[in-house]
Amino acid sequence: MRILFIGDVVARSGRRAVLNHVSSLRTEHAVDAVLMNAENVAGGFSITPPIAKELFEAGIDLMTSGNHIFDKKEVVPYIRKQPKLIRPANYPPGTPGAGCFEGEIAGRKIAVINLLGRVFMPPVDDPFRSVDECLSMLDPESKIRIVDMHCEATSEKYAMGWHLDGRVSLVVGTHTHVPTADERILENGTAYVTDLGMTGSYAGVIGMNKEDVLKRFTIMPHDRAGHSKGSVWICYIVVEIDDETGKALTIERFRKEVN
Ligand SMILES: [Fe+2]
Ligand SMILES: [Fe+2]
Repeated sequence: MRILFIGDVVARSGRRAVLNHVSSLRTEHAVDAVLMNAENVAGGFSITPPIAKELFEAGIDLMTSGNHIFDKKEVVPYIRKQPKLIRPANYPPGTPGAGCFEGEIAGRKIAVINLLGRVFMPPVDDPFRSVDECLSMLDPESKIRIVDMHCEATSEKYAMGWHLDGRVSLVVGTHTHVPTADERILENGTAYVTDLGMTGSYAGVIGMNKEDVLKRFTIMPHDRAGHSKGSVWICYIVVEIDDETGKALTIERFRKEVN
């Protein structure tokens, strides 16, 4: 199976980039499924049902998220009935939605797990124990297993890569909005990259207006920062996974300017 995974899609510019290009990316890379992180698609925070619908219709097969998933209240009833939008698995018991998707995509049984890190992040349960629990509940026939480790610290993401090496097909990091150049296949066959990077405007500071962010660092009081425009990049990886073993065969990283 060939999977394309797009990092945090931020605000209107990121959303437009995905909507306009997902179909051609699918053809160009001959992929069976396209996943993306959707924690920032609606004005930079969370997602709304109409936006989710638009993205699914454009060709996104499944969306992961992160710490901003519940920033819009409309997402609560939506995530309860949309299994292809997942939220961190290590949120407290009773949190709306699921932290793991297990089902069929492109004719394969596939599992996708979303986790939130704990270093410089809101307090949550231990993602290492949470992912072990999620994996223990999966059907052994779900050979293709993908984990989005949404967190700030590269060390915590790398540790999760080694923790899951040989037990899942792919571990991707998200949240920092800057892509890292360390994509590789770990010793026991898990494809890994520390951060997919943002899909959105790189004209500012991780998706926000540079002037506003500079004020936030230098002036008090300051206003909330707006979103930057221009220099729109789509950042993603393409991974090829052996359907029989679930081991990764290749991982490639891409950064495309789409202005
Ligand atoms: Fe993000
Ligand atoms: Fe985040």
